[in-house]
Amino acid sequence: MASRHTQPLPAPAGNIVWHQHPVTREDRERLHRHQGAVVWFTGLSGSGKSTLAGDLEKALHPLGVSTYLLDGDNVRHGLCKDLGFTDRDRRENIRRVGEVARLMVDAGLVVLTAFISPHRAERQMVRDMLPEGRFIEAFVDTPLEICEARDPKGLYKKARAGDLPHFTGIDSVYEAPEQPEIHLDGQQLVTHLTGQLLDLLRGRVIINS
Ligand code: ADX
Repeated sequence: MASRHTQPLPAPAGNIVWHQHPVTREDRERLHRHQGAVVWFTGLSGSGKSTLAGDLEKALHPLGVSTYLLDGDNVRHGLCKDLGFTDRDRRENIRRVGEVARLMVDAGLVVLTAFISPHRAERQMVRDMLPEGRFIEAFVDTPLEICEARDPKGLYKKARAGDLPHFTGIDSVYEAPEQPEIHLDGQQLVTHLTGQLLDLLRGRVIINS
């Protein structure tokens, strides 16, 4: 039975029935004293997603916000270590991360994700997995030339040399968000951008402090 709290997902094939448990997301959110939500950072490699997600988490922690950070490079060491960078694999990467983020939001956490997530369709897929208003798309807008000049892992150099196929921004597409909840100028100071993100979370009553 669907409850007014946690929505069951569409039934998969086979004899699988949704089991509605008594403790709901709203109950868990009351314990946490804030809402569950995802701040979904998207942008080119080297745009600053991971740095910003880490800085936001560091700022939320002393405010008593229960967080978890899912980072592309780290998740690809475990949950998604069987996936590469073809369009199909990237889609599966984002689908898995979206499902994990959905569970964590159901647990009442503020989830910060740092994935290139280059395709609009996949970001929309994750948005559609979550309750209304709980997917906050944060576009880290840093021009390709700047990301390439930063090149923290030397990957742009490899890609330009033809040693790294399907590299985002070089020979693989990045579709910028059209209507992100927040559009961040990736050349601004991290502390300034974190301040903007905190204001947004307060404005949307995700956090109270
Ligand atoms: S996504 O496109 O599927 O969202 P994800 O964020 O998980 O990508 O991983 C991106 C990270 O993997 C980059 O920051 C970079 O360090 C590394 N990487 C390795 N190969 C590629 C590639 N072909 N394109 C982009 N990033 C790559």
